[in-house]
Amino acid sequence: MSSVRPVRKAVIPAAGLGTRVLPATKAMPKEMLPLVDKPAIQYLVEEAVKSGITDILIILGRNKDIIEDHFDRTPELETALQKPGKEKQLAECLGIANLANIFFVRQKQALGLGHAVLCARAFTGDEPFMVLYGDDVIGAPEPVCAQLIRAYKKYGRPVVGVNAVPWADVSRYCSLKTHPIEGAERDFFVDDMIEKPKKGQEFSNYSILGRVLLDADIYPILESLPTGANGEYQLTDAMAVYARQHGMTAVDFIGTHYDMGNKLCVAQANVELALRHPEIGPSFRAWLQDYCKTL
Ligand code: UTP
Repeated sequence: MSSVRPVRKAVIPAAGLGTRVLPATKAMPKEMLPLVDKPAIQYLVEEAVKSGITDILIILGRNKDIIEDHFDRTPELETALQKPGKEKQLAECLGIANLANIFFVRQKQALGLGHAVLCARAFTGDEPFMVLYGDDVIGAPEPVCAQLIRAYKKYGRPVVGVNAVPWADVSRYCSLKTHPIEGAERDFFVDDMIEKPKKGQEFSNYSILGRVLLDADIYPILESLPTGANGEYQLTDAMAVYARQHGMTAVDFIGTHYDMGNKLCVAQANVELALRHPEIGPSFRAWLQDYCKTL
């Protein structure tokens, strides 16, 4: 085991324009799209907290005040809920406001995920930090952040959370040059990666799906990064430089990934999470079974 600093901080970039899920995101961030009864970003905050993170910085863009409001106290609502029969809802509202120490900063222009992460520099200082891409919800038996933190402690290197994606989809994500690590079936050594590869440029069909654990060495690389795919400052391009210089670890995490930036995935996520929901799960299942007969 390498000796590394504890991971207490997380960054959630949520300043993107969400153009792929318009018109839902015209006035509302995609990170606030509900999955049954919770906005997507709350699943992320809960995952980070369950993994031992205490301080979270959410990177906001324009029209994202609603995210700040969601994690704040709501005195009028709390007063209205202070009556018999509403105890559960009241506890839930108070619980959201007390989940973690949550901070906010504005990314003044949506110049890309790499640029968004650079906005976290003063917050993270010289500590290691998790990045949870704001539109990637992952349902998992063990929180994915915790799976990455374990690998960080074991290998002492920054970590990316990956899954094998269908080859046809690799060009939408990124592709990693992975090397097996003996005795660790789900962990890989990574020494290169490429964002949105064209056909023939792929290293593998392992793509990063929304969780990475970085340290302050990423910032000088981000500062001098040229724009990449889509004319944006890409975090993957910075991690590629880091991986080529020092190497990183990839963890093939156990979990189900839902991309809130994709309409089909949002619909699928709602069905899967409704089926598992403690309150509505059984009745939703019965309804869905009947509905499927009509298809
Ligand atoms: P995406 O590339 O999926 O977000 O970034 P986007 O720009 O909103 O995508 P389109 O318009 O639907 O194609 C992944 C995460 O990074 C955040 C997004 O909010 C999302 O959660 N992000 C992206 C930023 O915070 N700032 C940016 O400049 C870009």
